[in-house]
Amino acid sequence: MRGKMGMISNDCKEYILPRTLIKPTLAAMITPATDEQMDDSIDGRTVDTEAWRRRVGSFIRDHAPLRPPPLCPEISLHLADDMAGAWAAAEAALAATRVPPPFWSVAWVGGQALARYLLDHPDRVAGRHLVDVGSGSGLVAIAAAMAGAGSVTACDLDPLARVAIAMNAATNHATVEIDPADPLTTTAMDADIVVAGDLWYERQIAEKITPWLRRQAAAGRTVLVGDKRRAFFPRSGLEPLADYAVPTSQDLESEALTTAGVWRLESGF
Ligand SMILES: C[S@@+](CC[C@H](N)C(=O)[O-])C[C@H]1O[C@@H](n2cnc3c(N)ncnc32)[C@H](O)[C@@H]1O
Repeated sequence: MRGKMGMISNDCKEYILPRTLIKPTLAAMITPATDEQMDDSIDGRTVDTEAWRRRVGSFIRDHAPLRPPPLCPEISLHLADDMAGAWAAAEAALAATRVPPPFWSVAWVGGQALARYLLDHPDRVAGRHLVDVGSGSGLVAIAAAMAGAGSVTACDLDPLARVAIAMNAATNHATVEIDPADPLTTTAMDADIVVAGDLWYERQIAEKITPWLRRQAAAGRTVLVGDKRRAFFPRSGLEPLADYAVPTSQDLESEALTTAGVWRLESGF
């Protein structure tokens, strides 16, 4: 059953964007969006320039006020009340038609669980090199830095997310490096720990991320993941570490409160 905005539903088994509320051109890009986000352009225009980052920063300040995610009150993030509204507004503000969905404007429940776990278990990250894959708002990366990780790198394919991560990290006085490269195509990675929050919302992404994370575990890295057991989240090869009740919204998750877990992903499955 879809929620009011039909954002994420375990029943629907797939991330569903609010197609009825947005322009067809935007709705059409949902599934293939990830490949197109891999180069640093939107509508064929180069992004990641200083001027572009300033424009995006001003958009983020205007449309996503700072606030704490429910499970991590010690962290402030630029979060939007209405992701669909923020998406349409981003297009208008940037005069672009193919802006990626603003996943960065939400603290996803799997990411909140993982961030809470790291904040409460600093021994897991202390002094270690950590990479946060699909960082979105940067929540998990920021939590890791606050928990005392030796170094933290946040990766996200969405150039707007990278601006949001930089702003959120600065707000929380967290040192986070931001890597625009797709970690899934990176062969050598300088990391002791790989973390991933809420990346199992879409089959296409899940089918790439899970085997890649397993390979990281096989290479001797600790792999920690957070999720609400969405449809494409693995069901085996997991060491359970924690469960959290996370306040959320009908719009996002079709429920007011959900349970999200944290696991260590094992290799060899
Ligand atoms: C649902 S959001 C989760 C964000 C954050 N981890 C959290 O829990 O709040 C998924 C994010 O993963 C990013 N993403 C998807 N595939 C990716 C890939 N191959 N490499 C880096 N980022 C990716 C998207 O751009 C998006 O920001």
